[in-house]
Amino acid sequence: MDTEVSSPARPRALSRLLFLVAAMVFAMVVVGGITRLTESGLSITEWKPLSGAIPPLSQADWAHAFNLYQATPEYREINGPTGMTIAQFKHIYWWEFVHRLLGRLIGLVFAGGLVWLASKRGIPRGYWWKVIALLALGGAQGLLGWYMVMSGLSQRTDVSHFRLSAHLLLALGIMSALIWVALDLRRFAATGEDRPSRLTTPALVTIAILFVQLMLGAWVAGLNAGQVASDWPLMQGRLFPDGVDWSHGAFWALTNDPYLIHFLHRWWAWVVVAAMVLFARKVRKVPGARRASIAIHAAFGTQVLLGIATVLSGGRDLARRSPPGGRSAARRRNNMGRQRVGSDAMSVISVYAVFANSEEAERIGRAVIEERLAACINILSPVRSIYRWQGAVKTADEVAAIFKTANHRVDALITRIAALHSYDVPCIVTWPVDKLLAPYADWVEASVG
Ligand code: HEM
Repeated sequence: MDTEVSSPARPRALSRLLFLVAAMVFAMVVVGGITRLTESGLSITEWKPLSGAIPPLSQADWAHAFNLYQATPEYREINGPTGMTIAQFKHIYWWEFVHRLLGRLIGLVFAGGLVWLASKRGIPRGYWWKVIALLALGGAQGLLGWYMVMSGLSQRTDVSHFRLSAHLLLALGIMSALIWVALDLRRFAATGEDRPSRLTTPALVTIAILFVQLMLGAWVAGLNAGQVASDWPLMQGRLFPDGVDWSHGAFWALTNDPYLIHFLHRWWAWVVVAAMVLFARKVRKVPGARRASIAIHAAFGTQVLLGIATVLSGGRDLARRSPPGGRSAARRRNNMGRQRVGSDAMSVISVYAVFANSEEAERIGRAVIEERLAACINILSPVRSIYRWQGAVKTADEVAAIFKTANHRVDALITRIAALHSYDVPCIVTWPVDKLLAPYADWVEASVG
């Protein structure tokens, strides 16, 4: 019996395999997004490509996995102080486990499918190097995932936004390359002619513009920069946001500042839209490509609307996720049963300060929290102040705020607020804390440097 795949079926069979793998990569991107949003990504602290496919099965296995997680900064500083239980740990572990398992499954389906097709001589000439390169890129994506996870295991409580963007962009690149080669093969099967498509200059320019937007989007996600504004098209009522920290230089701000990156992402979108409209016009001129042109318009239109909706939902989401104390509910998890009142209350200090307006309070609050001088800031409603200044009684509308910090950071905090403040003589006073909940004291201590 002849087991060779017959001539026109050869490209078709490989094309179907590549479409299947591309669909699995899409599912992987979705599960990756859920893993990020459930803050599950750092729950598996080991990299075991083969034996890691078996989840913890016994109580002892789970205790071991939980022990390893307890050594991470994320547990020590966020989930530990709020009393994470093993049941809650299992929940985040499963999401990361499913993400990694799906990665292994994609590798198996792709490699297995190629071996099967090769055994039937089902891989057309000229396509070997392409499929091997795609398979190798899949392996590199797994390594990159682990490299990303590593960035959140020793020093910081989350992963580097640069590595997160590299992981997302490579996934999107692999998916696009799979679809590209699969479409070439489908045309080959239909016409009997092997004419792989090439990148034109307009396509290259459009891809470069889109690449910048995708990267900025991944940085917005990685820095939680979506939450710095909940209005659109303005940000906190202004065209250009007030809170950008330029103190480390323009390059640092361009690559690390949540306000600036959010600003760039929301406005670069229109450069993408313009490039896509022009590109779609060119595509439309190609015989039979009208549907592709419509698909391009639909894709960027949907994406822009989704982006704006994400921002507008952020205000409510932020309010829901940030109880007094400023922490996200996902990070707050179940804190029941730990309502002890601390005896070492004096380790926590409240600092009361008054600012010219809410933008200034927010800018300074964000800076000192990022610098780990304070655990949180509560910005209060505007206050009406009456005071004597240079011999005259004056009145002003100001914004008051209360910072919470640990005793050993209070001097540095006061000095820093004063340095960032617009007033010559700002009001910054400490209020010793008399009594408070012990877990809250733990959290404040863990949140400051
Ligand atoms: C063609 C236009 C756009 C493209 C291609 C794009 C792409 C992306 C990508 C790839 C991400 C990262 C998603 C992730 O890591 O899970 C992202 C995130 C985000 N985008 Fe866009 N975007 C576009 C337009 C917009 C617009 C117009 C806005 C509205 C101002 C917006 C707001 C956001 C926000 C808030 C996030 C972060 C979501 C989170 O916190 O996870 N995007 N975008």
